[in-house]
Amino acid sequence: MQTQTGALLHQAHMTTIEALQSLEEFLGANRKPPQVDDLVARKMKQLSRTLRSEVENHFGFEENHLFKAFIEQGETGIVTMLTHEHRSILPLAIQVADLALAAADAGFTDASWGEFRDAGGELIEREIFHIQKEEMGLLAAISALLDPEADAEMANIYRAEVG
Ligand SMILES: [Fe+2]
Ligand SMILES: [Fe+2]
Repeated sequence: MQTQTGALLHQAHMTTIEALQSLEEFLGANRKPPQVDDLVARKMKQLSRTLRSEVENHFGFEENHLFKAFIEQGETGIVTMLTHEHRSILPLAIQVADLALAAADAGFTDASWGEFRDAGGELIEREIFHIQKEEMGLLAAISALLDPEADAEMANIYRAEVG
Protein backbone atom coordinates (compact mmCIF):
# COMPACT_ATOMS: atom_id res chain seq x y z
CA MET A 1 0.00 0.00 0.00
CA GLN A 2 1.31 3.41 -0.99
CA THR A 3 1.40 6.07 1.73
CA GLN A 4 1.60 9.85 1.28
CA THR A 5 4.71 9.98 3.43
CA GLY A 6 6.31 7.15 1.48
CA ALA A 7 5.54 8.90 -1.82
CA LEU A 8 7.18 12.13 -0.62
CA LEU A 9 10.29 10.33 0.61
CA HIS A 10 10.48 8.35 -2.63
CA GLN A 11 10.32 11.54 -4.70
CA ALA A 12 13.22 13.06 -2.74
CA HIS A 13 15.21 9.81 -3.01
CA MET A 14 14.85 9.88 -6.80
CA THR A 15 16.04 13.50 -6.94
CA THR A 16 19.08 12.59 -4.86
CA ILE A 17 19.87 9.51 -6.97
CA GLU A 18 19.71 11.65 -10.12
CA ALA A 19 22.10 14.19 -8.59
CA LEU A 20 24.49 11.40 -7.55
CA GLN A 21 24.38 9.80 -11.00
CA SER A 22 25.16 13.10 -12.64
CA LEU A 23 28.00 13.57 -10.13
CA GLU A 24 29.33 10.12 -11.01
CA GLU A 25 29.35 10.98 -14.72
CA PHE A 26 31.10 14.27 -14.00
CA LEU A 27 33.78 12.55 -11.90
CA GLY A 28 34.25 9.82 -14.51
CA ALA A 29 34.59 12.30 -17.37
CA ASN A 30 37.31 14.38 -15.74
CA ARG A 31 40.59 12.86 -14.71
CA LYS A 32 42.13 16.31 -14.27
CA PRO A 33 40.45 19.33 -12.67
CA PRO A 34 37.76 20.44 -15.16
CA GLN A 35 37.30 24.02 -16.26
CA VAL A 36 34.43 25.57 -14.29
CA ASP A 37 32.40 27.53 -16.83
CA ASP A 38 28.89 28.90 -16.19
CA LEU A 39 27.24 25.57 -16.90
CA VAL A 40 29.51 23.62 -14.55
CA ALA A 41 29.16 26.34 -11.90
CA ARG A 42 25.37 26.03 -12.08
CA LYS A 43 25.69 22.26 -11.82
CA MET A 44 27.90 22.56 -8.75
CA LYS A 45 25.47 24.94 -7.03
CA GLN A 46 22.56 22.64 -7.80
CA LEU A 47 24.49 19.64 -6.45
CA SER A 48 25.32 21.52 -3.28
CA ARG A 49 21.66 22.47 -2.73
CA THR A 50 20.38 18.94 -3.36
CA LEU A 51 22.93 17.36 -1.01
CA ARG A 52 22.28 19.83 1.79
CA SER A 53 18.54 19.45 1.47
CA GLU A 54 18.91 15.65 1.58
CA VAL A 55 21.13 15.39 4.64
CA GLU A 56 19.81 18.38 6.60
CA ASN A 57 16.06 18.54 5.89
CA HIS A 58 15.25 15.04 4.67
CA PHE A 59 17.44 13.20 7.20
CA GLY A 60 16.17 15.61 9.87
CA PHE A 61 12.55 14.76 9.07
CA GLU A 62 13.26 11.03 9.12
CA GLU A 63 15.06 11.19 12.46
CA ASN A 64 12.97 13.78 14.28
CA HIS A 65 9.52 12.65 13.19
CA LEU A 66 9.32 9.37 11.32
CA PHE A 67 11.86 7.36 13.32
CA LYS A 68 10.37 8.73 16.55
CA ALA A 69 6.98 7.34 15.58
CA PHE A 70 8.64 3.98 14.80
CA ILE A 71 10.36 3.88 18.18
CA GLU A 72 7.06 4.59 19.92
CA GLN A 73 5.82 1.38 18.30
CA GLY A 74 8.87 -0.59 19.37
CA GLU A 75 10.38 -0.66 15.86
CA THR A 76 13.97 0.12 16.89
CA GLY A 77 16.08 -2.16 14.69
CA ILE A 78 15.55 -0.37 11.39
CA VAL A 79 15.82 3.02 13.14
CA THR A 80 19.20 2.20 14.66
CA MET A 81 20.57 0.98 11.34
CA LEU A 82 19.33 3.92 9.26
CA THR A 83 20.35 6.54 11.86
CA HIS A 84 23.82 5.02 11.95
CA GLU A 85 24.05 5.36 8.16
CA HIS A 86 22.89 8.99 8.35
CA ARG A 87 25.80 9.68 10.73
CA SER A 88 28.29 8.28 8.26
CA ILE A 89 26.81 10.06 5.22
CA LEU A 90 26.15 13.54 6.64
CA PRO A 91 29.72 14.84 7.10
CA LEU A 92 30.72 13.47 3.70
CA ALA A 93 27.74 15.11 1.98
CA ILE A 94 28.48 18.45 3.65
CA GLN A 95 32.12 18.17 2.57
CA VAL A 96 31.12 17.50 -1.06
CA ALA A 97 28.49 20.29 -0.97
CA ASP A 98 31.05 22.80 0.35
CA LEU A 99 33.68 21.79 -2.21
CA ALA A 100 31.10 22.10 -5.00
CA LEU A 101 30.10 25.56 -3.84
CA ALA A 102 33.72 26.71 -3.54
CA ALA A 103 34.40 25.37 -7.06
CA ALA A 104 31.39 27.25 -8.45
CA ASP A 105 33.08 30.46 -7.25
CA ALA A 106 36.76 29.82 -7.74
CA GLY A 107 37.13 26.65 -9.84
CA PHE A 108 39.00 23.48 -8.91
CA THR A 109 42.68 23.15 -8.05
CA ASP A 110 44.54 19.84 -8.32
CA ALA A 111 44.11 19.42 -4.57
CA SER A 112 40.45 20.38 -4.34
CA TRP A 113 39.59 18.22 -7.37
CA GLY A 114 41.33 15.24 -5.75
CA GLU A 115 39.44 15.81 -2.53
CA PHE A 116 36.16 16.27 -4.43
CA ARG A 117 36.68 13.03 -6.37
CA ASP A 118 37.52 10.98 -3.28
CA ALA A 119 34.74 12.34 -1.10
CA GLY A 120 32.26 12.31 -4.00
CA GLY A 121 33.01 8.70 -4.92
CA GLU A 122 32.60 7.55 -1.34
CA LEU A 123 29.40 9.58 -0.92
CA ILE A 124 27.83 8.10 -4.06
CA GLU A 125 28.44 4.59 -2.75
CA ARG A 126 27.15 5.15 0.79
CA GLU A 127 24.15 7.27 -0.13
CA ILE A 128 22.87 5.05 -2.94
CA PHE A 129 23.15 2.02 -0.68
CA HIS A 130 21.24 3.88 2.03
CA ILE A 131 18.47 4.97 -0.32
CA GLN A 132 18.12 1.45 -1.71
CA LYS A 133 17.65 0.16 1.84
CA GLU A 134 15.04 2.78 2.61
CA GLU A 135 13.23 2.10 -0.65
CA MET A 136 13.08 -1.61 0.20
CA GLY A 137 12.45 -1.52 3.94
CA LEU A 138 11.41 1.90 5.13
CA LEU A 139 8.54 2.54 2.74
CA ALA A 140 6.98 -0.82 3.61
CA ALA A 141 7.44 -0.14 7.33
CA ILE A 142 5.64 3.20 6.96
CA SER A 143 2.61 1.55 5.44
CA ALA A 144 2.66 -1.15 8.14
CA LEU A 145 3.11 1.20 11.09
CA LEU A 146 1.22 4.40 10.24
CA ASP A 147 -2.56 4.38 9.91
CA PRO A 148 -4.04 6.78 7.32
CA GLU A 149 -4.45 9.65 9.82
CA ALA A 150 -0.92 9.31 11.15
CA ASP A 151 0.33 9.12 7.56
CA ALA A 152 -1.53 12.29 6.55
CA GLU A 153 -0.18 14.10 9.62
CA MET A 154 3.36 12.90 8.89
CA ALA A 155 3.09 13.98 5.24
CA ASN A 156 1.99 17.47 6.34
CA ILE A 157 5.01 17.75 8.61
CA TYR A 158 7.22 16.71 5.68
CA ARG A 159 5.71 19.36 3.37
CA ALA A 160 6.10 22.02 6.07
CA GLU A 161 9.66 21.16 7.05
CA VAL A 162 11.25 19.80 3.87
CA GLY A 163 9.07 21.18 1.08
FE1 LIG B 1 15.39 8.88 3.04
FE1 LIG C 1 17.60 8.21 5.40
